[in-house]
Amino acid sequence: MKLQYQLNAAFTTLLIVIMSVTAYTIYSLLLNLLIQDEQRQLRAKGELLVSILNDEYNSVNVQRFLNEQDLQLFIYDSNSDQILLSTLPSNVTKHWVENYDLSSDEQPLWRAGDERYVVSKIAFYTEIPGAELVLVTPLDDLQAVQHTFIFRLLVVFLIGVSAAIALSYLLTRRLVTPLTRLKHQIKKIQNRQFDDLKEIDASGEIKEVEQSVMEMARELERYISSQKQFFQNASHELKTPLMTIQGYAEGIRDGVFTESDAERGLDVVVQEISRLKKIINEMILLAKLDSEENIYEKELIKVEELITLIVERALPLANERSISLDYDTKLDTLLEADKEKLLQASMNIVSNAVRHAESKVEVRSYEKNERVYLTVADDGPGVNEDLIPHLFHRFVKGKGGETGLGLAIARAIIERSGGAIAVETSHLGGALFIVSFPKKENEK
Ligand SMILES: Nc1ncnc2c1ncn2[C@@H]1O[C@H](COP(=O)(O)OP(=O)(O)OP(=O)(O)O)[C@@H](O)[C@H]1O
Ligand SMILES: [Mg+2]
Repeated sequence: MKLQYQLNAAFTTLLIVIMSVTAYTIYSLLLNLLIQDEQRQLRAKGELLVSILNDEYNSVNVQRFLNEQDLQLFIYDSNSDQILLSTLPSNVTKHWVENYDLSSDEQPLWRAGDERYVVSKIAFYTEIPGAELVLVTPLDDLQAVQHTFIFRLLVVFLIGVSAAIALSYLLTRRLVTPLTRLKHQIKKIQNRQFDDLKEIDASGEIKEVEQSVMEMARELERYISSQKQFFQNASHELKTPLMTIQGYAEGIRDGVFTESDAERGLDVVVQEISRLKKIINEMILLAKLDSEENIYEKELIKVEELITLIVERALPLANERSISLDYDTKLDTLLEADKEKLLQASMNIVSNAVRHAESKVEVRSYEKNERVYLTVADDGPGVNEDLIPHLFHRFVKGKGGETGLGLAIARAIIERSGGAIAVETSHLGGALFIVSFPKKENEK
């Protein structure tokens, strides 16, 4: 069932229950109130009558007066046990006198056949001692008043319920319409129609949900496009060496390349195969870094030890390119990360720096605001401005680049260890890579 109908049904049921209970309570209390009121009125009328008639009691006069008043009453003499006067049928009054106790002031409802009567009894002090004036009103008269009242009340309730239901319908529609629109937007996200997404007119919590959904859609769109980009780049990167290998292999097979050419061709084939292997290994590593939880084995690492290891590994490459490698190992601080992986990330950064440097690379470390910093600076041309926003994405490479995965791997490792990486311009004129980690307390 639709939400709007559910809300309306719930509201209407609640309203009908409340109104029925109210109507029933009023209905049952009303008759009692009417009876009490009638008794009061009968007593007032009786007392008035008694005061008028007490002055000059004369049965003929009284009978005439009473006939004119349209009152249902009788006068009873308790001493002689006789009805002195009555505007009611004599068998009825006789039946009452015989069956009801007239000595009590509080009288119950009297019955005569199917009819019931409200009764009020007033002592009538005339020359006849012990005379009682008894006034009665048929209960039917009061019930008729009760029914008229309840009928009007029901009409008012019915109008009230209809108005409330109409109002509830309008209000729930206002509430449900944005939800329905949001559902359509979510359907578009499901069908990946990101360009068709429209903002909906809503407020409060629904607006907040809409904003979260839109945020999620944008994130999903970014993710899908980065995946697409990744597959395009990956297939391109894999296709190039494969085509080279195919070209040389076919050339050698068809006798196009012979002797020294064939040998050089085979060398290229071997080089390209190892490049392919490197790309595939790096892609596998990246996929693992992304998805596998337990490939990180965190441990406390001394910063000075880390720098020593980096330098040891980078020195052959630096010597080969005649680059001077300057470093410090003074910082006696700890950080927490997977040592082997962090070393690999650092090597990716340092080997880039050595490759791009003119003559010098500096590896430094320092502490600031409870963080440990590692920086790698070189005096090369620096990172191209256009490249910076995407520098840490997969397969992004600039002039003199190789596969473009080194920095993506470095970022994945550093961020998974709780660190951060950024690039700036170094004081040497080239690139400055800044890696930072939360500082760990030395427990010694
Ligand atoms: N120190 C640097 N100075 C100037 N440019 C740099 C420096 N480090 C990286 N770059 C640029 O950033 C690009 C991306 O670097 P990254 O290490 O990710 O890939 P790569 O070095 O091209 O290939 P590989 O995956 O083999 O490392 C490089 O192609 C290069 O253009
Ligand atoms: Mg690199």
